[in-house]
Amino acid sequence: MLIEGLHYLTTPASRAQRQLGYLRESILLMSRSRRCQAAWTHHLATARSVVLQACSDLVRCRTAVILGSGLLDDIPLSDLAGRFERVILVDMVHLWPARRAARRYANVTLQVADLSGCVDWLRGNGERRTDPLSLFDREEIDFVVSANLLSQLPILPLDWFESRNRPPPDGLGRGIVVAHLEGLSRLRARVCLVTDLDQMTEDREGRVVERLDLLHGIGLPAPDRSWIWEIAPFGEVGRRRRQIHHVHAYADWHVAAGRDGALA
Ligand SMILES: C[S@@+](CC[C@H](N)C(=O)[O-])C[C@H]1O[C@@H](n2cnc3c(N)ncnc32)[C@H](O)[C@@H]1O
Repeated sequence: MLIEGLHYLTTPASRAQRQLGYLRESILLMSRSRRCQAAWTHHLATARSVVLQACSDLVRCRTAVILGSGLLDDIPLSDLAGRFERVILVDMVHLWPARRAARRYANVTLQVADLSGCVDWLRGNGERRTDPLSLFDREEIDFVVSANLLSQLPILPLDWFESRNRPPPDGLGRGIVVAHLEGLSRLRARVCLVTDLDQMTEDREGRVVERLDLLHGIGLPAPDRSWIWEIAPFGEVGRRRRQIHHVHAYADWHVAAGRDGALA
């Protein structure tokens, strides 16, 4: 609690990052990742290996962009910093551990950006943006990773409406998910996508007691790799319950999306 409070007080973050809950969520994620380190090891190591594989055959390695870089737990930062001329880490919030890690490399920079397209809109400044990824469609960007970000994008915008007892606009969650996937498809760079799809709550007998679709009904193409992420082992959310997420990874999203046609 004390450590969390210190992060809350000392992390450089704007009023929007604080008021909309992005800073709080990042700190909670950091605490959970530390508590669940053993259970998350397989997921994080597999994600890192997919990212490395995804850029291994690139001919040009100018700029790599990591969307949802967060704590960098699923990002092989030293390999990317060695391979690319420049690495840009993009998230709503960069906590101190990520800031310290980035500082070790002269070619790694941090960028704060809202990748849901909702933040300005929720704060009363204009419409919801449906193309927040257009920022990253630049000639010098050769590699983009969407790093366990997609399922997170709708959460705080939907919470915003729920906390005000207001119904969200129809299809908001789905729209955010589709906008991200379509935004990735429009980028000219090689795109690696790693995302969780759903959350299953199981009891100690392995019975599924709750199932949550994290992608709001959007189906994804067949993945290059898939695995289970034990996001909350027994004891984390209840003595007799654990939560697992199914994860899909695409080393080349353009190929996967083209291979299986339009999104379901
Ligand atoms: C599950 S975490 C993954 C973080 C990171 N890849 C890691 O493993 O350490 C999701 C990340 O998405 C970020 N995020 C959520 N909504 C965002 C938004 N609208 N714009 C940018 N980043 C966002 C969170 O701050 C968080 O760092």
